[in-house]
Amino acid sequence: MQLPFDSSSNCFPSPRPEIVDLSSYTAPLEGRRDLLRLDFNENTLGPSPLVIRALKDIHAEHIAIYPEYGGLREAFVKNLTSLGLSAPLSVDQVGLFNGVDAAIHAIFHAYGDKDTLLLTTSPTFGYYTPCARMQGMKISAIPYIGSDFSFPFDAIYSELVSKQPRLLFICNPNNPTGTRLSPQSIIHLAHAEPKTLVVVDELYEAFTGDSVMPLVDFEHTPNLLVLRSLSKTAGLAGLRIGFAIGDPRVVDMISRVTGPYDINSLAVTAAFAALSDQAYVETYVNKVFESREWIKAKLEASDLRFHLDGGNYFLIWPRREPLTVESALRSDGILVRNMLGKHLLEGALRVSIGTIDQMKKFWDSFSSIDAN
Ligand SMILES: Cc1ncc(COP(=O)(O)O)c(C=O)c1O
Repeated sequence: MQLPFDSSSNCFPSPRPEIVDLSSYTAPLEGRRDLLRLDFNENTLGPSPLVIRALKDIHAEHIAIYPEYGGLREAFVKNLTSLGLSAPLSVDQVGLFNGVDAAIHAIFHAYGDKDTLLLTTSPTFGYYTPCARMQGMKISAIPYIGSDFSFPFDAIYSELVSKQPRLLFICNPNNPTGTRLSPQSIIHLAHAEPKTLVVVDELYEAFTGDSVMPLVDFEHTPNLLVLRSLSKTAGLAGLRIGFAIGDPRVVDMISRVTGPYDINSLAVTAAFAALSDQAYVETYVNKVFESREWIKAKLEASDLRFHLDGGNYFLIWPRREPLTVESALRSDGILVRNMLGKHLLEGALRVSIGTIDQMKKFWDSFSSIDAN
């Protein structure tokens, strides 16, 4: 709830001016249990059984004492290495955060001086701009191009070299347009302006394989920082754990602005189990690939406008009023995300891709609600 604040009143403590005008980040996250969750791009089946077993085995002392993080960075590096890296990664190149949201917040806290510039794209993940506003930064958000939302590379490049922003945020693949930028292009951007910290949010890379990790050598690209999370593919969104990977000095800077125990012990236990079961993640990702093909065929055979690119989600423009369709889907037990108010995406719904059975359920319901 947003309460009015009268800055002229002198009998009330005043927050920083940037905070007075800020709206709190809100998303429709309540009352979602037991429904088919196609609204937040989460894993729709839940985490590996190893995670559930590890959490069930937790005993009282584990909860009573402060969290311990020993070995977690090593486990993450081992997991990343097994997926292929261009150069060996050391543990001081990995920062641990209470979800990638907290990593994003820390990056702005550490690098976002008042009146410096955030360069990013539009529309993109909704947490970058409030973080920039909190710091009193200026924002330049370059629109994706055309009906297929291609990446505005030339405009980003020219702003990057002419304005030397403090931060460049690239969500790859982009949420919500699915736009993909090649890892080579991202590294090229980072080399073009070494004073800009280029942050690549790779939350959905497992679904498209566009990661910079197999290519980047942070020794030669110290201004590139990569964000990864166990929220989506590994199914730990409720426990909150994310990683930032980059040059040890950058990782150190952003780790300085976190609290001492921001990640809780249950998240740590779950993360160890999830990282040890990469096969589970791969099986889930393959299921999403299969159902992606299934829903793509249905969409192509329809006369609806849709956009399906990277990530485990797609956009669809219903014939009927999107709010009506969204609420009728909810009555059928299916949640999707309305893009109301999102630049370039008015009239669209974003639908997460789960298993084939889940997509069938969505398609049956959507087709009868949105019939000609
Ligand atoms: C692009 C992107 N980045 C970051 C986040 C936040 O991730 P986490 O759950 O790790 O905080 C999300 C969540 O939806 C996202 O879509």
